Amino acid sequence: MLILAIETSCDETSAAVIENGEKIQSNIVASQINSHKRFGGVVPEIASRHHVEYITLIIQEAMKEANVEFSDLDAVAVTEGPGLVGALLIGVNAAKAIAYAHNLPLIPVNHMAGHIYANQLIEPLQFPLLALVVSGGHTELVYMKEHNRFEIIGETRDDAAGEAYDKIGRVIGVPYPGGKYIDEMAQKGEDVFNFPRAMMQEENYDFSFSGLKSAFINRVHNAEQKGEELDKNDLAASFQAAVVEVLVDKTIRAAKEYEVKEIILAGGVAANSGLRSALSEAVESELDDVSLAIPPLSLCGDNAAMIGAAAFLDYDETGEIDLAMNAYPGLML
Ligand code: KG4
Ligand code: ZN
Repeated sequence: MLILAIETSCDETSAAVIENGEKIQSNIVASQINSHKRFGGVVPEIASRHHVEYITLIIQEAMKEANVEFSDLDAVAVTEGPGLVGALLIGVNAAKAIAYAHNLPLIPVNHMAGHIYANQLIEPLQFPLLALVVSGGHTELVYMKEHNRFEIIGETRDDAAGEAYDKIGRVIGVPYPGGKYIDEMAQKGEDVFNFPRAMMQEENYDFSFSGLKSAFINRVHNAEQKGEELDKNDLAASFQAAVVEVLVDKTIRAAKEYEVKEIILAGGVAANSGLRSALSEAVESELDDVSLAIPPLSLCGDNAAMIGAAAFLDYDETGEIDLAMNAYPGLML
């Protein structure tokens, strides 16, 4: 069962060929970061133009690397949302054109489900599970009793974790997106600034990162005004410690309450070294018989392989080619 999957929700143009929802035949990702860097964030119009330019080439490359023809495919899958509407529409229309031309079922996929199912490319998921989904646009704790049933038990009230990383990254002058750079600096610093751990004491599983972001920015600006020099590695380490502590604490608490068999880490921030190691240690020391799935770095950020993995569950060989299919920028899980 071969699915051609397409992902264009933000600033990565990606196509993949996935076998039986679990084996990657190819996964080509073209990043546009260099075009957006100088603006300090993703410019939607530029993202759409890049997708238009690259989508056909990337699909061809994915098919070539997997050594398949359109006639070998069983379905086409594409991200329908959430994301930037103009960017999503490029993938959706490319997928529709291929499905129509080759008479293949078309499978719309939720981008966040894709991040969760990236883990299925490594090992089958074990239910009930709890997924900590942390990306540039989302921070959510998702409880799943079985395949395709998503219950959001907690989410950010303001900034997403990745968004907070990118915003404080700008303040200390690292390139966009700052998450990766802050993570590298954090490994060389110490948690000396004691930034706030927001909502730690509350019973719910919600998060908040905007207070932490403001505390960080105020500390940097205060020092600048006084001509005081702060150690950037220590700043990064202190910020990272605050983010990681809250994410891990709430995840472990929720895993206990919901009695899950597995915890899954997903999304771009899943690449964070501090989060990966703190969560591993906490699962090991605080939970019995709960496994932890952490995707390899290549599957943390946006990619089409994860879309193909999530699409497999919705495959129906009699499936329609829904040419009315649309992009939904605010799509929920
Ligand atoms: O999932 P993703 O590729 O795109 C969205 O769907 O948002 O996530 C991108 C986010 C960015 O905010 C980026 O700074 C963050 O993931 N990120 C990291 C790391 N690598 C990427 N954040 C912290 N530490 C990292 N190592
Ligand atoms: Zn993403």
